[in-house]
Amino acid sequence: MNISFEGKVALVTGAAMGMGLATAKAFAGAGAAVVLADTNEEALRDAVDTLKAAGHRRALRCCERDRCGRNGRKKVSTFGRLDAAYNNAGTSRRRPRTRPMRAARTSNG
Ligand SMILES: NC(=O)c1ccc[n+]([C@@H]2O[C@H](COP(=O)([O-])OP(=O)(O)OC[C@H]3O[C@@H](n4cnc5c(N)ncnc54)[C@H](O)[C@@H]3O)[C@@H](O)[C@H]2O)c1
Repeated sequence: MNISFEGKVALVTGAAMGMGLATAKAFAGAGAAVVLADTNEEALRDAVDTLKAAGHRRALRCCERDRCGRNGRKKVSTFGRLDAAYNNAGTSRRRPRTRPMRAARTSNG
């Protein structure tokens, strides 16, 4: 990201993996404090650990199924402001486009 987010605060939903995590990393890399929200607690913990291990100390996770809204506000208020939000939460179904072929039946079984 070429824009500086130094001193800014960003919130990313669906941030434990995929596009949300990539966005959270980009915000953190540009200098922002980031609140990562997701319903997948384990993956979210790993995501925040990864950011912190990369030197981004100002990363907070927000995970509590069905209460992300209230907790998100609380986490964001830890940083005292909100400058950017990426509402990315959702899922991508990654199914193969083709079905595996069945072996052809032969007359002898
Ligand atoms: N990947 C693509 O090519 C593509 C294309 C178009 C649109 N999208 C959309 O973009 C979004 C992200 O895609 P992705 O490929 O990164 O998905 P992904 O499945 O890799 O990750 C989605 C993340 O969102 C979290 N999540 C799901 N529901 C949530 C909720 N209610 N609250 C908080 N977190 C929640 C999941 O736990 C997961 O960590 C999805 O909504 C998807 O439909 C993706």
